[in-house]
This record gives sequence, C-alpha cells and structure tokens, in this order.
Amino acid sequence: MTAVLAVEHLNFGYPTSGLISGSGIAVKALDDVSLSVEPGRVLGIVGESGSGKSTLLRTIVGLNRGYTGTIRYRGEPVDHTTRAARRSGFVAGVQMIFQDPGGSLNPFKTIRQTLLAALARAPAPRAGTSELEALLHQVGMNGSALDRRPSEFSGGQSQRLAIARALACNPSVLLCDEPTSALDVSIQAQILELFGRLKGEGRAFIFVTHNLGVLGHIADTIAVMHRGRVVEVGPARELIAAPQQAYTAALIAASPRLKHRGLLLKNARHRLSPAPAGSAS
Ligand SMILES: Nc1ncnc2c1ncn2[C@@H]1O[C@H](COP(=O)(O)OP(=O)(O)OP(=O)(O)O)[C@@H](O)[C@H]1O
Ligand SMILES: [Mg+2]
Repeated sequence: MTAVLAVEHLNFGYPTSGLISGSGIAVKALDDVSLSVEPGRVLGIVGESGSGKSTLLRTIVGLNRGYTGTIRYRGEPVDHTTRAARRSGFVAGVQMIFQDPGGSLNPFKTIRQTLLAALARAPAPRAGTSELEALLHQVGMNGSALDRRPSEFSGGQSQRLAIARALACNPSVLLCDEPTSALDVSIQAQILELFGRLKGEGRAFIFVTHNLGVLGHIADTIAVMHRGRVVEVGPARELIAAPQQAYTAALIAASPRLKHRGLLLKNARHRLSPAPAGSAS
C-alpha cells in the first residue's frame, strides 16, 4: 500500500542561542530520518527524552523551518508555504494533537467558534449546528459543549475537544505527541479506544509516546529514536518481543509490564510453527 505520509532523509538542527548566536552551530535534533505510514496504520515513535520525537512531528507539520530532506504527502513533496500547503490539501489533511490539549484550544473562544474556524479549513466547509454536534459525538461529547469555553472542561474532555477540532478538517493523518500522558488511566483508555475507531476509518497515525505498553496495543510499526536517529524500526509485536538493538532492549527492560508481555509474545512465537520462507510479517 502507498504511504499517505513519508519522510526521507530528514535532517534538522535547532540554531544555538546565547552570546555567540549566528555561529552556524546547531543542536542536531533529526539525523537522516526516513519513515512512512500507510492509510489505516499506526506508526509508533518511542525514545528517551530529547531523542527528537516532538521535533519530528513539528518538522512534518511545518513548525520547524530549515530542514533538509523530503516530506511527502500522498506521494507529493510537501511545500510548507501557506498557499501551497493549503492547495495540496496538506494543511487540512495532516493534523496534530498535542500532549496539552489546553494548548490547542483558544481559551477566549467558545468550542463552537473553535470548531467553526477548523471547519472553514476543511476542503468542503460545512457549518451547521448539526455538523458541529456530529463532530462532538465522534469524540463522545454532545452539543451542550458548544457554547462553553475550554476552562470549563476537564483534561480528558479538553483532549476530546482538541481531537474534535482536528477531525473537523477530515484529516487523513493524525500526528499525536503524547496525547494521553496528561490524562488518568481510565480516560487514556477511552481516548485510545477513540483512536482505534479513527484508525478503522482509514486514518493514519504517527503516535509519539514514552509508553511502549500503549504502542504494543495500538501500533502496527514502531520506530525507536535515539539522539535524532531512527535506530530500529519494525512490526510492533516483533520489535517488542525480539528487539534487535541493545537500546530498544533497554527501553523495553525499563518497562516492567512490557518485559512480561515481551516474554509472553516470545513464548507464543515459539509455539507457532516456523513461518514459510519469504512470508510477510
Ligand atoms: N526550541 C528548541 N530550541 C533548541 N533546542 C531544542 C528545542 N526543542 C528541542 N530542542 C532540542 O532538540 C532535541 C530533541 O528534542 P525533542 O523535543 O524533539 O525531544 P523529545 O524526544 O520530544 O523529548 P521528550 O520525550 O522529552 O518530549 C533535544 O536535544 C532538545 O533539547
Ligand atoms: Mg517531546
């Protein structure tokens, strides 16, 4: 299947700040990163703090300028200039969901105003109350939210509203940067269930998290980042059960529940007869 979103040999460095600015020395945050995701699939990204996960997502959506390499949306190289990105459908088609839902909802606007503004960016804008209510229903909320402001909602509700705002554009790809880590466990489960439904609709995800256990459940493929590089990438279950790199093994070992799960998967694999040569994973 053709990738809906791909990055090829992506490099990005943050300029240094301080007394000697403009020295040309940069913090290299992405180092030759190549990854892709197909419709209806979840690409999980893990790695320790500072490994470049957020930088990758921010660079894809155009928040970091000055990268080298290619970002492709539906096979075409992305031009992040506002007009080109709108024309190619990239602006509506690739939506980001942040860890802090408050950050993506304007505190001064009602939910109705926020959703209407998002709908206006969709390729075929529709703007009736029934469309807004339908959006809220998708994320398990109802129309009573429309005329309230973000401060009136809990963290879990705010994240649902941030997701509704992203869905208003009818995106093909959702880039999620630790979207559940600020939420308590039961709300996390509900949001992950929602993502599972959206995946079933054919939407693709790049899902950044520290929590390998979450990825073991929802990701099809996992990429492991370390110091800006992708050090290992593979089918999620196999990567967790039999990591090829010591760094990946260390991440798994640091997650006790996963260590247990990894052993279970390994044992399950041993019970299966060997796969025929050349069979796909
Ligand atoms: N705005 C910035 N200016 C300069 N350096 C930055 C900036 N943002 C991130 N960095 C640096 O880039 C590297 C990658 O950071 P990034 O935020 O992408 O990591 P991360 O994997 O998302 O980490 P975490 O798991 O803590 O969110 C780090 O060395 C970080 O210090
Ligand atoms: Mg981050």
